[in-house]
Amino acid sequence: MRIGTPLSPSATRVMLLGSGELGKEVIIALQRFGCEVVAVDRYPDAPGMQVAHRSHVIAMTDGAALRALIERERPHLVVPEIEAIATDMLLEIEQAGLAEVIPTARAARLTMNREGIRRLAAEDLDLPTSPYRFADSLAEMQAAIDSGIGYPCIIKPVMSSSGKGQSLVKAAADVEKAWNYAQAGGRVATGGKGRVIVEGFIDFDYEITLLTVRALGVGGEVDTFFCEPIGHVQVNGDYVESWQPMAMSAKALERSREIAARITGDLGGRGIFGVELFIKDDTVWFSEVSPRPHDTGLVTLATQRLSEFELHARAILGLPVDVSLRRAGASAVIYGGMEERGIAFDGVADALAVPESDLRLFGKPESFVRRRMGVAVATADTTDEARARAKLAAARVKPVKG
Ligand SMILES: Nc1ncnc2c1ncn2[C@@H]1O[C@H](COP(=O)(O)OP(=O)(O)O)[C@@H](O)[C@H]1O
Ligand SMILES: [Mg+2]
Repeated sequence: MRIGTPLSPSATRVMLLGSGELGKEVIIALQRFGCEVVAVDRYPDAPGMQVAHRSHVIAMTDGAALRALIERERPHLVVPEIEAIATDMLLEIEQAGLAEVIPTARAARLTMNREGIRRLAAEDLDLPTSPYRFADSLAEMQAAIDSGIGYPCIIKPVMSSSGKGQSLVKAAADVEKAWNYAQAGGRVATGGKGRVIVEGFIDFDYEITLLTVRALGVGGEVDTFFCEPIGHVQVNGDYVESWQPMAMSAKALERSREIAARITGDLGGRGIFGVELFIKDDTVWFSEVSPRPHDTGLVTLATQRLSEFELHARAILGLPVDVSLRRAGASAVIYGGMEERGIAFDGVADALAVPESDLRLFGKPESFVRRRMGVAVATADTTDEARARAKLAAARVKPVKG
């Protein structure tokens, strides 16, 4: 693998599609290897734009705009950071040999819609998942529940992320509200509009993200590497806390790795994947997969020799990876708590007085009540202690009007 000089004809050019807090860390990792990085997002001054060589604001769901930008910038690698992208255009770009799409255009297309990835996992690969049905109307949704899924169940728009439009339906009285909520929360992207997935509720003991890296191994072939499992807590479908390693039975871990290897092996390409799994005793269910760094993996900024972002950068550049854990750790999310532009943060010094703690403030130009504006990470002898430290550090950061 040869890396050129940024801003010169020899440059190794990488374009990030989506430039939030996860993209920002990937960009920093790429910058350290001397890549030329172009950050793209739908709004100006996104976190990743602040650390890239150049940035562009476009609607990434607009295929023509996306292609025009890629033809202009001529990146060697195109790295999706979000799901809402014109993925059919990514397929065309890949087929035309215009750029390499990470990990593959097919992976980006399948995972942007819950239907694509669920059918692949459950129907093609025979992986265990929650029972599910798809529905395009309230009546179809009710029929799906009545004819087998039952209560409780979870309703999600097929195009959505971070729990948007998602609800738990406990009884018949909640059904219509869940349908309406899904309609309001779904992403208006190509196709899929209005469609929901009805999933049977899995009464798991705990859930994990198994970060799985497809990178070049010693023989020059793509190999699969597993980070230590990450435990996490979700509130309304959005992650609030994560820790690593998650203590698991040997059997559940082995099963989790088998499932992760199958799904990532099928999606192919190089890069990191966040494989989400539900676990009860030794039983493991596949939930979903992100073909990119995962929000719960922010904890790896503190715990691993190479964070998930550095692993992604190395994997996509064809460089060797090391997934070893250094120390137990945890992360805790810092929400904006207000609707305001240009907010400020008090208490940063107090937060960093917590032993073995660190912070990331993402630099998002606008705060919302439930927008993730930063994260606290901490390490300790045990994950319990690390969780207490990360939560304490996060709580000491006080968003205020700027
Ligand atoms: N079938 C299910 N049974 C139980 N809990 C679920 C189920 N589906 C989702 N959840 C809970 O909701 C969270 C978010 O769901 P997920 O499908 O991962 O949506 P998103 O794409 O928004 O992350 C999961 O991490 C889990 O805590
Ligand atoms: Mg998820």
